[in-house]
Amino acid sequence: MKPFFLSTPIYYVNADPHLGHAYTTTVADAMIRFQKLMGKRTFFLTGTDEHGDKIVRAAQHRHTAPQDYVDVISARFQTLWKELGVDFDDFIRTTEARHVSRVQQFLQLVFDRGDIYHGEYGGYYCFGCERFYTEKELKEGLCPDHLQAPEFIKEKNYFFRMSKYLEPLRKHIEANPEFIRPERYRNEVLGLLREDLGDLCISRPKSRLSWGIELPFDRNYVTYVWFDALLNYVTALEWPDGERFRTFWPEAQHLVAKDILKPHAIFWPCMLLSAGLPLYRHLNVHGYWLVQDTKMSKSLGNVVDPLDFARTYGRGAFRYFLLREMQFGHDASVSEDALVNRFNADLANDLGNLFSRVLSMTRKYFDGRVPEPGPIRVEDEEVHVLAAECLENYQELFGRFQFSMALEALWTLVRILNKYVDASQPWALFKQKRQEELGTVMYTLLEGMRKVAVHLWPVMPEESEAMLAQLGEERPAQQWRHLADELLHWGLLEPQTKVAAASNLFPRVELKTPEAAGVPAAAARQGKAEAFPVTSFHTAELLDFEDFQRLDLRVGTVISAQPVQGADKLLHLGIDLGEDQARSIVAGIAQHWSVDALIGRQVVVVANLKPRKLRGVTSQGMVLAVHAPEGLQLLGPSKQVPPGSRVS
Ligand code: MSP
Repeated sequence: MKPFFLSTPIYYVNADPHLGHAYTTTVADAMIRFQKLMGKRTFFLTGTDEHGDKIVRAAQHRHTAPQDYVDVISARFQTLWKELGVDFDDFIRTTEARHVSRVQQFLQLVFDRGDIYHGEYGGYYCFGCERFYTEKELKEGLCPDHLQAPEFIKEKNYFFRMSKYLEPLRKHIEANPEFIRPERYRNEVLGLLREDLGDLCISRPKSRLSWGIELPFDRNYVTYVWFDALLNYVTALEWPDGERFRTFWPEAQHLVAKDILKPHAIFWPCMLLSAGLPLYRHLNVHGYWLVQDTKMSKSLGNVVDPLDFARTYGRGAFRYFLLREMQFGHDASVSEDALVNRFNADLANDLGNLFSRVLSMTRKYFDGRVPEPGPIRVEDEEVHVLAAECLENYQELFGRFQFSMALEALWTLVRILNKYVDASQPWALFKQKRQEELGTVMYTLLEGMRKVAVHLWPVMPEESEAMLAQLGEERPAQQWRHLADELLHWGLLEPQTKVAAASNLFPRVELKTPEAAGVPAAAARQGKAEAFPVTSFHTAELLDFEDFQRLDLRVGTVISAQPVQGADKLLHLGIDLGEDQARSIVAGIAQHWSVDALIGRQVVVVANLKPRKLRGVTSQGMVLAVHAPEGLQLLGPSKQVPPGSRVS
């Protein structure tokens, strides 16, 4: 099986990491874990980009030496990744000797091939981006990213003959539709290649900037920061002759946001072509996280600290949110509201409920052990087939970086399993002593849940492991990870395995800022507060979900109301529940509600109560109400719904 190599950008250390950096790194971590699950040998590279003007200026601003400054900020990135559960294989820093010496080796190689020459250059230079802009690229004379006027600089410099490789690169992109993906970025790059890009200025005179890697063929210059930074992808792999390089470079993939498309899609492949190295396989490009419609960025001062969210809602939930909320390739907005909604809808309601109800039924009906499945009926077979389809979709989409759609596919399975509980009514099978059918249903559910849990490992590793533990998986994650192949097949759950008695995986959350949750953000960052609660797992005895499910609550419309003779508290209501005939329900509301106020009103009805007679009138259900200081209030939907709609 082919190995798998994935890199993130190496981040600038001129400020602390924010949610944008956390997204790219989390995506990379999830993808690496997914490939591991698929049995691949993987290598995950991240790091920090530590040379250049803006780093020097940031250090000066803090009255520290550049090296001391970069040491501190680089360490913050490393700590953050650990805290977010990111498991990288190497963290490269461009100030490390292993990088510096190889960058010089690469420059010499390209120089010796005649692809570097000395010349004069004048252009608009943005110090924020550390690059020259053509007039056409500027927006009303300003840098499009920093919205600041660039400086016109004219000086003697070294140039890389990029123009020589632009046509071969264009051909490569045309011949390999997935080289840059998603397609919108491929098209953008093909558009750029239609312009006259010329050669690339790759040096800065030391008189202007000394914080960089010296050119091996001219000590008066240092390397342009992008030429230095892009090379991290091969220096970390021990180019030219390291074992890592031989193994992983042929399967290299990069992950970046659209802000750094041009250096990755154009400069970097041209550099590789010049050095005679194979091109990477894929450049995967994502959009921006926005805060109220504006790109989140340290220069715009609107950044979100990923730790605030992860500490408040759990890092698994945070990772789930990042992957589910952004359609890879498009921009997405971040807000605490959106996170809480996702958590409650997907994790608390859909997934949490499934685990809670199925585990408690297993306890009740099979003494907490996985039952022996009985014969497979058509409806069970249907679930097996649908589950296989969902998992196949998930795997296919995840492998193509379409995380949001992949998770949607997995949640289709979660919902199918929830519906299967409702449709097969295990509690009724139990009551009717249909043990074999009950065994099949419960086995199918438990096995389906196991598949969901395994597939969630790349996204929420700790929660996935906890779910598997609830399903009786005793092997530590390191072991079953390598048995992934086996875990992906249906029917391997051993009958008689003891499962957890109850589960409360994702208790619903309320919108809360870290302060409101009792975790002041600043204190939490300094490690004073409890770090990262993995979503909690209570085992307290609560109402079984299926007990609640047995209640058939429906919305009905009152179509008639009349007093019951001899009973001044009762009204005889006719309620439309979408059935052939109106339901006859006697309700003790006469002293609070007039007939007129009732007609046309929608109410909630317990529709499966045994009929009983009240003052000679048959009542086929009950209307729900609440005693309030102003009198008895009737429960109903916030908007009109079709009569007979189920309350869930
Ligand atoms: N040092 C260069 C990269 C060199 S790679 C050879 C650099 N650093 S950076 O610190 O500015 O990081 C840019 C990257 O951070 C983006 O490509 C993306 O991965 C991530 N993001 C920064 N802000 C982001 C958003 N608002 N939204 C999404 N990702 C963001 O460029």
